[in-house]
Amino acid sequence: MPFVNIKKQYLAVGMLVFVVLFLFNNRPAIQCQFTQEVNTYLPTIYGITPTYKRLAQKADLTRLSQTLLLVKNFHWIVIEDSEEKTPLVANLLRESTLKYTHLFIKTHKSKHSTASGVEQRNEALNWLRHHLSQAEDKKGVVYFMDDDNTYSLKIFDEMRKIREVGVWPVGIVGGMRVEMPLVVDGKVVGFNAVWKPFRPFPIDMAGFAINATLFLFHPDAKFSRKVQSGFQESEILKYFTTKFKLEPLAENCTKVYVWHTRTQKTSIINPKKLKNPPVPDDHIEV
Ligand SMILES: *[C@@H]1O[C@H](CO)[C@@H](O)[C@H](O)[C@H]1NC(C)=O
Ligand SMILES: *[C@@H]1O[C@H](CO)[C@@H](O)[C@H](O)[C@H]1NC(C)=O
Repeated sequence: MPFVNIKKQYLAVGMLVFVVLFLFNNRPAIQCQFTQEVNTYLPTIYGITPTYKRLAQKADLTRLSQTLLLVKNFHWIVIEDSEEKTPLVANLLRESTLKYTHLFIKTHKSKHSTASGVEQRNEALNWLRHHLSQAEDKKGVVYFMDDDNTYSLKIFDEMRKIREVGVWPVGIVGGMRVEMPLVVDGKVVGFNAVWKPFRPFPIDMAGFAINATLFLFHPDAKFSRKVQSGFQESEILKYFTTKFKLEPLAENCTKVYVWHTRTQKTSIINPKKLKNPPVPDDHIEV
């Protein structure tokens, strides 16, 4: 029947098209994937995280460490504000399966400066310089990470594009929905900050990262207790860059990939003040 013949012809043509598409589409796709894997060099990201003892510390570090498990080629430098390494942090790092370095240094309290993390970040930079000076691969990116911020995986992809210093918006910080560099024609021309806008770099610690190799070229670059609050970012950045040399990332600073979230201050009822105190829980790590 002519009816059946037409159907068979359609079927034959259809199969031919399918076979042609399969041959010509699949082969280049497989080759592409292969060459991409061979050519992709991912510079190590050194995440520098100061941390201190408090009730929510383990919760915050657990959340952050499990984000970091999803970041390729990541080296976490965790510095405790303490007289010695605490078992809580040591165990958490060991169990994390991350690549990490565990350091500690106690903050020296000062009347003039309440800035947190100064000694801890400097301790990490000392370690980094020593590490890089001996390492074969001196390339990398340095990112200062609070232990309670929220990081999208996209921010790590962005910072691998950095040549010297990259910047991007930070959500929910400085009294704003988003604090960000202002970009015109792919260049940073200013900042939208309202909190201390006279700062040389009015951006949050989470809003920039620096080429790690440059820390070897600038051995003096460090944070300082001598500057007023909010000037730590400007203090470190001044060694490496100027406003006009900043590299705007996250689609010319139009996307938010990191949020300056704060863990709520914990409040625990003192069991001694209760008529019917609960069973003791001091033996349980929280
Ligand atoms: C960082 O700077 C060094 C020295 O200028 C350069 O060789 C390297 O390609 C830059 N990028 C990274 C990711 O290290
Ligand atoms: C950023 O802006 C510049 C200049 O307008 C443009 O050439 C570039 O493609 C933009 N980059 C991205 C990632 O959108």
